[in-house]
Amino acid sequence: MSDRILSGIQPTGNLHLGNYLGAIRNWVSLQASHECLYCIVDLHALTYPQVPEELRQNTRTVAAAYIACGLDPKTCIIFNQSQIPEHSELAWLLSCLTPLGWLNRMTQFKDKAGKHREKANLGLYAYPVLMAADILIYKATHVPVGADQKQHLELARDIASLFNHTYDVDYFPLPEPQIFGSATRVMSLRDGTSKMSKSDPSDYSRINLTDDADTIAQKIRKARTDADLLPENKAGLEGRPEAENLINIYAALADQSVDDVCAKFAGVNFTTFKQELTDLTISVLQPIATKTNELLKDPDYIENILAAGAEKASHIAKPTLTEVHSIMGLLRPS
Ligand code: ADP
Ligand code: TRP
Repeated sequence: MSDRILSGIQPTGNLHLGNYLGAIRNWVSLQASHECLYCIVDLHALTYPQVPEELRQNTRTVAAAYIACGLDPKTCIIFNQSQIPEHSELAWLLSCLTPLGWLNRMTQFKDKAGKHREKANLGLYAYPVLMAADILIYKATHVPVGADQKQHLELARDIASLFNHTYDVDYFPLPEPQIFGSATRVMSLRDGTSKMSKSDPSDYSRINLTDDADTIAQKIRKARTDADLLPENKAGLEGRPEAENLINIYAALADQSVDDVCAKFAGVNFTTFKQELTDLTISVLQPIATKTNELLKDPDYIENILAAGAEKASHIAKPTLTEVHSIMGLLRPS
């Protein structure tokens, strides 16, 4: 079977540098050589309360950002998940196989549900099964994501394997996670031990893809650091999560190894390094912000791209669901 790539991001707020370096930038480099589907997982976003008009606008914004980052709708398929009902139906079918014990191990549910487990909604709990369905409905072979999604990907592989085993078929390929680069886990600018995330209440914790130059400069200036100078190699970053994070970001943006960046800035203080990091970040993100804002002025253009993408995705998803019905014994008129 030839490779097929699928990935997605939730339209839950501003896309940030972590989404770009951990995911989208890698998606862009894969599109030239592979069949790629990139979705905006709006159904996953519903696991949190959403204001309907904001969700619609966030979906357009993520689509615009995908394109602004370099995804080409002529080369890859860009669509929103809810336009393809086969995702939800496959999720139900797979949920009838998935043991509760597997879902109970998911750390993201534990983190997100927190102390209020009993009040968490069923969608949040079943989230990884829908994610498995997103992947398996296209029989995707590879899934480029940031490191935080590794456990969900393992679950998707286990579900695919359980399906094949239960029905004694070799139907679903086992999807491989693709986690690459030096920024698979970009950390918060306020706390080097927690991930940069859309859901962090502090906007100073992240650099948004639509932040202007002044905002980027201010956020990097205020980013937490330690009192030491920059080390001469990667080993010197041990136990210095904030320094490590800023160096990893620099390395990823400059496409250099962490050791090369350390060698370049060895013995330099953070004020000087932060200035260099600011210039580099602005040079990469500014064109993306400008293009995103330009695209957002024409919502019809974006919605047409999503509709065209959905039509292409549907051609792949529909036959899969028909075959799955047949394998599972659901009767259809012949
Ligand atoms: P968030 O946690 O900000 O809501 P998502 O869960 O929508 O982001 O993640 C979308 C994609 O971006 C996933 O592939 C995820 O692994 C990646 N990603 C998210 N945050 C980071 C980060 N801080 N560093 C690297 N990759 C990330
Ligand atoms: N769970 C992923 C995240 O939070 C988003 C996602 C949903 C996804 N379905 C997917 C990623 C399918 C890759 C493939 O980042």
